[in-house]
Amino acid sequence: MKGIVLAGGSGTRLHPITQAISKQLLPVYDKPMIYYPLSVLMLAGIREVLIISTPTDLPNFRRLLGDGNQFGLELSYAEQAAPNGLAEAFVIGADFIGDDDVALILGDNIFYGQGFSKTLEQEVSTMDGCVLFGYAVKDARRYGVGETDGTGRLLSIEEKPEHPRSNRAITGLYLYDNHVVDIARNLKPSKRGELEITDVNMTYLHQHRARLVELSRGFAWLDTGTHDSLLEAAQFVQVLEHRTGVRIACLEEIALRMGFISPDECFRLGAKLAKSGYGDYVMDVARLAGATG
Ligand code: G1P
Repeated sequence: MKGIVLAGGSGTRLHPITQAISKQLLPVYDKPMIYYPLSVLMLAGIREVLIISTPTDLPNFRRLLGDGNQFGLELSYAEQAAPNGLAEAFVIGADFIGDDDVALILGDNIFYGQGFSKTLEQEVSTMDGCVLFGYAVKDARRYGVGETDGTGRLLSIEEKPEHPRSNRAITGLYLYDNHVVDIARNLKPSKRGELEITDVNMTYLHQHRARLVELSRGFAWLDTGTHDSLLEAAQFVQVLEHRTGVRIACLEEIALRMGFISPDECFRLGAKLAKSGYGDYVMDVARLAGATG
């Protein structure tokens, strides 16, 4: 399975912060926002990832992450010239996807919870059609909303409904089989002139091939779309990291644990960041795993 991180958009709800920098490069406590969604793809075992952003912002993502080789990944980059909708990712990424299945994650979504990598692994290996992830929220009107039959099969999906049929928001992580490319290519733009991810999901739903996996109460799915939610996400990460001493979405650590890089390679990555607490953490993790540095 291949992965796409969609990190476009103009971030208008965060202006003026995002007037000169991409939203997905903003810090969420100790690391850039895009580390969080990228870590999710890595935990799913995905190593070939396409990062899509605006022509202006793309060079900054490249500067931050390079070709991904340092994390044992193969990163590539593509432009979304205009905000034509989330589903355009599959049209832009068609060559990259090739004959594979694909996971799409929105560059501003943060997932945290015990057993998430196991859930991902299982869903990736048993996927048929599409798999979406649902999370109970207080105000479902801000999201895509899904309703299931109790066994996980999706019965309805509505995008930002005035009167949601459930409190299950559909999160910004989507797993699809290879048909998604054709589905996206044949979509008609919505009233707002965009290729909507909800319309892609509706196509799978009509084929009875859309599943919604519930992320349970103990799980955190955080939004970073407004000034308050961005700060709250950073505070959430700070509190957990201080309390446990373990970092969330530390790409170097995940690459090591997934076997993408060796302890010595991990140590060298940490050494480059030695002046920040982050670098010390990476070196400690590498030492514990047997790095000789
Ligand atoms: C998008 C999707 C929506 C989903 C949300 C998750 O909305 O259209 O279905 O629930 O992402 O973050 P957006 O945030 O682009 O308005």
